[in-house]
Amino acid sequence: MNLVLMGLPGAGKGTQADKIVGKYNIPHISTGDMFRAAIKEGTELGVQAKSFMDKGELVPDEVTIGIVRERLRKADCENGFLLDGFPRTVAQAEALDTMLADLGKKIDFVINIDVDKSILMERLTGRRICKNCGATYHLVFNPPAKEGVCDRCGGELYQRADDNAETVQNRLDVNVQQTKPLLNFYEDKGYLRNINGQQDIDVVFVDIEGLLGGLN
Ligand code: AP5
Ligand code: ZN
Repeated sequence: MNLVLMGLPGAGKGTQADKIVGKYNIPHISTGDMFRAAIKEGTELGVQAKSFMDKGELVPDEVTIGIVRERLRKADCENGFLLDGFPRTVAQAEALDTMLADLGKKIDFVINIDVDKSILMERLTGRRICKNCGATYHLVFNPPAKEGVCDRCGGELYQRADDNAETVQNRLDVNVQQTKPLLNFYEDKGYLRNINGQQDIDVVFVDIEGLLGGLN
């Protein structure tokens, strides 16, 4: 099962990706997570990515395409993958087509989690993440049982550096601009499936399961 998960920042890509990879046992490939890991490790890639991420800008296509190309070649992608947050530009989507053709693979579905832009500021500024296991919470919509503590592993929760109001606004503006042509690109290819992301987290996942039921 070769999947791409699309959606504006805060649409719920990470939240649903966690559930999808848990059920279907495919690797979760998030370019955002890969960049954050590189920043933490202090690599050259991390230094480069940080300057864009802190402003809410996209990391340049050639950098992003390069890391995905390397990742998709790994053995754990043999039986499928879930790309989260990539592609984000038409140039990235075209590069992905070429990479997959080289590997003899193709996309099954592009799942677009559709959410009105107006509710995303609240979703992102209220998000909290576990330092230890990466689980995602929301202060209002998905709070942990004990404030500041992860239900899953007891780890400490933190706020992502780019989840402040100013950076969120820029991320939303940048992504809204890039998304329309990308949706058209995948609509034309017949891959696009829209999922209503303004339902409860578990209901969104039921809709995704309904879509994926026919795939193996
Ligand atoms: P990335 O890490 O991909 O961030 P993003 O796209 O901004 O998306 P988020 O992770 O913020 O949101 P999400 O959709 O995963 O939402 P979540 O499930 O957490 O990218 C970060 C940066 O890296 C970019 O700005 C860019 O600089 C760079 N980058 C990454 N990929 C790139 C690329 N391909 N090209 C260039 N640059 C790239 O949910 C959000 C909150 O809402 C949570 O608190 C959650 O609990 C809550 N929530 C989720 N679902 C629901 C629901 N149904 N109802 C109520 N609350 C909900
Ligand atoms: Zn945790």
